Amino acid sequence: MESLQALLGTRLPIIQAPMAGVQGHALAVAVSNAGGVGSLPCAMLSEAALQDELSALQAGTSHPYNVNFFSHTPPVPDQARETIWRDALAPYYREFDIDPAGIVAGPGRNPFSAGAADILEAFRPRVVSFHFGLPAPELLARVRAWGGKILSSATTVQEALWLEAHGVDAIIAQGLEAGGHRGIFLSEDLSTQLGTFALLPQVVRAVKVPVIAAGGIADADGVAAAMALGAAGVQIGTAYMLCPESTTSKLHRAALASDAARHTALTNLFTGRPARGIVNRVMRELGPLSQSAPEFPLATSGIAPLRSKAEALGNSDFSPLWSGQNASGCKNLPAAELTRELMSKWNGI
Ligand SMILES: Cc1cc2nc3c(=O)[nH]c(=O)nc-3n(C[C@H](O)[C@H](O)[C@H](O)COP(=O)(O)O)c2cc1C
Repeated sequence: MESLQALLGTRLPIIQAPMAGVQGHALAVAVSNAGGVGSLPCAMLSEAALQDELSALQAGTSHPYNVNFFSHTPPVPDQARETIWRDALAPYYREFDIDPAGIVAGPGRNPFSAGAADILEAFRPRVVSFHFGLPAPELLARVRAWGGKILSSATTVQEALWLEAHGVDAIIAQGLEAGGHRGIFLSEDLSTQLGTFALLPQVVRAVKVPVIAAGGIADADGVAAAMALGAAGVQIGTAYMLCPESTTSKLHRAALASDAARHTALTNLFTGRPARGIVNRVMRELGPLSQSAPEFPLATSGIAPLRSKAEALGNSDFSPLWSGQNASGCKNLPAAELTRELMSKWNGI
């Protein structure tokens, strides 16, 4: 089997995980220049911002990088569900003196589209990764046409087999420890979800394409352990969140650096899909998982004004404090140095 480095065109088999909301091109540039694969998360970018971020990324590195998109099917807005959600949030709107009539419902996150493919074509990124399955075949064909390698996350063996059957070049095995959204796409049943070291070897045995381990890997020993279980490479997110090149907010940084980071949970309150974050007030009081939250990504707009008001008052009670279960590797170190540290026990074969 071709090595992950040969497939992705890099020196080191490490991908800096795309992390929408806490990074832009600067983190990706630093990691790609350090010999790994830097990633640009695009789920929350307008087409104009995508163009700008790609231009900055291209200007910052001559090495390969990854461009990441969500590939969910946008839901049909449902007024009844929106009303249930607004009712659940009503006590908080009163507490913060927010007029719910002024809150505009809207998606907050967009899937990969023909418009995004038009923009990407000029940059021809070497790697394009997806979360929540894959986009339509005609969109994937456009990525292949410029020679882009296609990656996507699997959270079960079944999802890994599905992705392989649909032609991905490598699979990211995303264990339950991982920070941010679960890539789960064939089921909504969270009891199907496996920890990284249960998922990884089973996926490695089930598929022929390279498997990249993600979730809870936070130091050089974790990287070596994943490689010992058959990973062709690793994808690491949380550990990069305190790097100066990340745009992680002050409140989020403080939470990651505190004992609070030892308690994370899966919550659907911030977007409508389960994602792992540090437990905060709204997660304790309404969830962490709630039947009232509308379908992804429609939960976003109802909670956004609470987040803004609370953050202005200096608290993160309503903020999505995404984090994996192992924030112990977060370091305020330049991303290139952190990448070197993470790969320091990799034997180079
Ligand atoms: C703050 C944050 C944001 C994330 N956003 C994305 C994203 O936009 N796209 C994506 O494919 N994965 C996203 N993820 C998940 C990562 O790709 C990856 O699975 C995870 O970071 C690995 O686990 P770790 O955080 O324990 O290293 C995010 C993770 C975090 C922590």
